[in-house]
Amino acid sequence: MKILVIGRGGREHALVWKLAFNKNVSIYCVPGNGGIEENARCFQLNRIDQILDFALREKIDITIVGPENYLVDGIADKFEERGLRVFGPRKQAALVEGSKVFAKILMAKYGIPTASFKIFDDPDSAEKYISEIDKPVVVKADGLAAGKGAIVARTKKDAFKAIDSLMRKKIFKEAGDKVVIEDFLEGFEVSALAFCDGKTIVPMLSSMDYKRAYDGNKGPNTGGMGSVTPAPHYTDELSDFVYRKIMFKMVEALQKEDIEYKGILYAGLMITKDGPKVLEFNCRFGDPETQSILLLLENDLLEIVQSVIEGELSKVKISWSDEKAVCLVI
Ligand code: AMP
Ligand code: GLY
Repeated sequence: MKILVIGRGGREHALVWKLAFNKNVSIYCVPGNGGIEENARCFQLNRIDQILDFALREKIDITIVGPENYLVDGIADKFEERGLRVFGPRKQAALVEGSKVFAKILMAKYGIPTASFKIFDDPDSAEKYISEIDKPVVVKADGLAAGKGAIVARTKKDAFKAIDSLMRKKIFKEAGDKVVIEDFLEGFEVSALAFCDGKTIVPMLSSMDYKRAYDGNKGPNTGGMGSVTPAPHYTDELSDFVYRKIMFKMVEALQKEDIEYKGILYAGLMITKDGPKVLEFNCRFGDPETQSILLLLENDLLEIVQSVIEGELSKVKISWSDEKAVCLVI
């Protein structure tokens, strides 16, 4: 069987490494990286149309998509139209990550716990709102911004600056056409990832990433400088709540909206004193969470991927090692 992995990071290296335990697969990766080359044939392709041509020519059986931008741009729809099988949600379902406005409205409609929020499509009314409130907030670009679109504003001045950068200076282009302004939450963060075939949702082990760039948890936020699995302080009780009230409920909410969700559903959570609340949903594997999570997965990854695509996830028994795993980004 021929498997194509799309992406070039540590996450995709972990996916390729894990897939390679199955000796019946030939693995391809675009564009890949030096580490990935040990287990996969890498090709320097980036655009969806180029990758689609490649997959058709090479008769790829399954394509696994790493980065969110491909999913939000509809790679799953485009591949499926040409008869190719993809692991990852279609464009409309990928909006859980592609639009913060979409995700927040859905959470509010179906009672999924998240920070209170308001949505703005012009900077003047966003600034008016800030001048009337007196609490720390987070200003978030609606669209994709490479993990940099959420700006924590502890003071009004920070909030005005964030609104100006996102909505007037357009530092993330049209991603800042709308913003979500939400209450700042305190607690500890957990990444909850799950496999989902549209009906069945199976959680992975929990994880926690460390975002600050420098030693001692200092410096600017990054996508993640390392991760641990399972997440410290994440009890079975919390995990049960997250499964029932957040992950399962989100898939059910999407179903009710007539949107089938297949692939990975990833909730970035803040565990507050009032319980877990969603900071964001992602439509893909986390980076670097995947690196520590996959070390503890005992199944063949391909078996799970196939069952998700075929809508038969309930037939697979997924098991995890009870050891702990750490990923360090250098
Ligand atoms: P997001 O892209 O929405 O996950 O936000 C990126 C990071 O910003 C999160 O991982 C948190 O560290 C922080 N963040 C986002 N929303 C909030 C919030 N409401 N309260 C506190 N921190 C937040
Ligand atoms: N580690 C954060 C993310 O994958 O979005």
